[in-house]
Amino acid sequence: MMMMMMTMTTVIFQDCSNGRPEGSGQGDLEEGVESFKAKDLIITPATTFKEKPDPKGLVFGAEFTDHMLIVEWCADSGWGKPQIQPFQNLSLHPASSALHYAVQLFEGLKAFRGVDNKIRLFRPHLNMDRMFRSAVRSTLPVFDPQELLECIQQLIKLDQEWVPYSTSASLYIRPTLIGTEPSLGVKKPKKALLFVILSPVGPYFSSGTFNPVSLWTNPKYVRAWEGGTGDYKIGGNYGPSLWAQCEAAENQCQQVLWLYGKDQQITEVGTMNLFLYWINEDGEEELATPPLDGIILPGVTRKSILELTRDWGEFKVSERYLTMAELENALEEKRVKEMFGSGTACIVCPVANIVYKGQVLHIPTMENGPKLTSRIFTKLNDIQYGREESDWTVELP
Ligand SMILES: Cc1ncc(COP(=O)(O)O)c(C=O)c1O
Repeated sequence: MMMMMMTMTTVIFQDCSNGRPEGSGQGDLEEGVESFKAKDLIITPATTFKEKPDPKGLVFGAEFTDHMLIVEWCADSGWGKPQIQPFQNLSLHPASSALHYAVQLFEGLKAFRGVDNKIRLFRPHLNMDRMFRSAVRSTLPVFDPQELLECIQQLIKLDQEWVPYSTSASLYIRPTLIGTEPSLGVKKPKKALLFVILSPVGPYFSSGTFNPVSLWTNPKYVRAWEGGTGDYKIGGNYGPSLWAQCEAAENQCQQVLWLYGKDQQITEVGTMNLFLYWINEDGEEELATPPLDGIILPGVTRKSILELTRDWGEFKVSERYLTMAELENALEEKRVKEMFGSGTACIVCPVANIVYKGQVLHIPTMENGPKLTSRIFTKLNDIQYGREESDWTVELP
């Protein structure tokens, strides 16, 4: 088995196979992968330093720290040495494949300064593994996820004063891998650039209390489809979603509820996974989220919420299909308790309304506490800021 998977790795890496590895994990795939190494890091410190912003006034993704990580790759010589250098613009060939054919991928995770002043990452290995999967699917070079994580930790260490001294702000980490093939034509790139930038970010809910969102849904827009790339974090999934997002905003909604298929399955909310807490058709109390069938992004927060609530063992926790008809029916029968999105940016985000076929469906999330949404938020927030010990966090060495 190991030999088979090793062979598959080699094929993907060297012979530009587009084959998708079987199974969701790729632990075996990572074995024996050619990679850059954290021990080879070359650090060129900045000589000028930006003023750190007030954590209260932070706008998402608008300010960046003093340093960045870059690693170059080319098919002939493999990965170069990882480098931490002053934050700066990239210089790209205008034919670079990332610019023309969206040959690129990215990740998003956060570092938190805890109540004990220690800096923690939340389940970063899951992001590294997801990035690896995205690289395979994008025909971009793969790497050892642990080596990348160690490089990122060194970058954060160097810019540690940028991790906000606040338990309602954090440092957003954006690893990115782009094809820099300097010639036109849709083909596997022979050159690539991995880089990581860091951005201090404030709380998602600025007032400190939950602001529920209204969702816009129009079945003519589809975010992802079977056989597509919706379960990978690649730029090509996001740019084309903006048109629907603008339509949502024009209709006074904050996010798009993405539906799929003739039965109008509920899939995701904007760039979040979706959870419904209700009394299901069989009269059972259930927390449900759509299954990872290829059109759902396997969120780190989604996974954590599933594990957490299964561990509580207080109600049924399911990965199952949910349709608009089932939701409408449950609303009529007053069986819906709470609905929320989940993601790194907010942890959980309550849903108050869905605009569907010209009608506003009110979801009584806030009227119901939101008891479960708040409980999950508090639990994960306590872990992230070190109020509660957990093996889900990785402390900065
Ligand atoms: C489409 C989509 N769904 C869900 C998520 C939530 O994932 P995570 O919990 O890993 O942030 C994201 C964010 O990365 C996303 O882009």
